Amino acid sequence: MMPFTFHNPTKLIFGDGQLEQLEKEVPMYGKTVLMVYGGGSIKANGLYDRVLQHLNRIQAAVYELPGVEPNPRVSTVRKGVQLCKNHQVDLILAVGGGSVIDCCKAIAVGAKTEIDVWDIITRKSEAKDALPIGTILTLAATGSEMNSGSVITNWETQEKIGWGSPLVFPRFSILEPKNTVSVPENQTVYGIVDIMSHVFEQYFRHTDNVKLQDRYCEGLLRTVIETAPQLMKDLNNAKYRETILYCGTMALNGTISMGAGGDWATHNIEHAVSAVYDIPHGGGLAILFPNWMKHVMDEGLDRFKQFAVRVFDIDPTGKTDREVALQGIEALRSFWNSIGAPSRLADYDIDESKFDAMLDHAMANGPFGHFKKLEREDVRAIYTASL
Ligand code: NZQ
Ligand code: ZN
Repeated sequence: MMPFTFHNPTKLIFGDGQLEQLEKEVPMYGKTVLMVYGGGSIKANGLYDRVLQHLNRIQAAVYELPGVEPNPRVSTVRKGVQLCKNHQVDLILAVGGGSVIDCCKAIAVGAKTEIDVWDIITRKSEAKDALPIGTILTLAATGSEMNSGSVITNWETQEKIGWGSPLVFPRFSILEPKNTVSVPENQTVYGIVDIMSHVFEQYFRHTDNVKLQDRYCEGLLRTVIETAPQLMKDLNNAKYRETILYCGTMALNGTISMGAGGDWATHNIEHAVSAVYDIPHGGGLAILFPNWMKHVMDEGLDRFKQFAVRVFDIDPTGKTDREVALQGIEALRSFWNSIGAPSRLADYDIDESKFDAMLDHAMANGPFGHFKKLEREDVRAIYTASL
């Protein structure tokens, strides 16, 4: 293992009926709230009204920032920063999926400085302070509800940048499985792919003696693989939603990678695609991850063999390690196909015409990845295999 310090300060409040905890949590930070949400799903499913009822009961002054885009834009973040400054907001309340939460994290640091928030996201300046954030999660996918990361897009420069700061861990996150029941079929699939991809990013590494971390990862993957097909057949099933919701949080709150590290190359490769084409993050990952795996597997066949045997029950008898590894990767592709995930860039009408722009984004900070350090030509090969 690598030496590590683990500290996750987010208070996780999980289970149907827990929304009323807002009335206890919000007053700890003050009475002026900026409520941030997306394109209207929370109005359609009634959550918007329920949140406002609780906020009204504690006589909170509520300002609103609606319209956060999937792949949230820095222009929207700047609007939120201005609202916080104009109204001396005490708490930012994100009600939505990862995009809404990520947007709030950027607003939180932008509200406490005169520096333009894009300079913090691009690491030209350091965040020194942040407003507190609370979240009410409506989509199982990113883990943003219990981590310190955020991904923001600048559409003018076509950049999609992941950044983070311990200052933006949500102070509390309320997860009611019933709030995820209205997530449509395609977004449910993207969420499942994202959750599994987060585990892959932490599972494929060369760190020695990480037995429990491996089992956490494998247990999480097996749980998703068992539950996802059931959920896809029965999208209204609250129990399946609950399982996937919990998996999503646990996949990226730091628990499964303590002392183990991770790779994170495929996320960088995907962010470069969705910066140029604005495709859903999970859709991009479904296309790219198996091709990253094939590209790097020879750097650590034993790990890929373990993945195939322990996660997809591939029988290794009489096969080379490489054959077993490949069967595991094919099993993943079949599994994602079976739940309706995209498998080719062509599914989003993407061809090689903008590969160079995507490669420029992916390589902006030089070669990357830990399992295998990827150079420009490696990334090009992964994009080409994904056509
Ligand atoms: O905007 P609304 O109307 O709310 O609709 C959203 C949106 O269209 C809809 N939705 C969410 N909850 C719903 C619902 N529709 C019906 N019922 C509900 N209960 O789903 C659509 C997608 O929402 P979005 O928040 O964009 O999805 P997700 O949670 O997958 O977030 C994606 C963003 O997170 C970033 C991605 O790059 C992408 O920008 N990521 C953030 C990470 C982090 N902070 O740790 C890590 C991830 O790897 C990821 O990169
Ligand atoms: Zn992701």
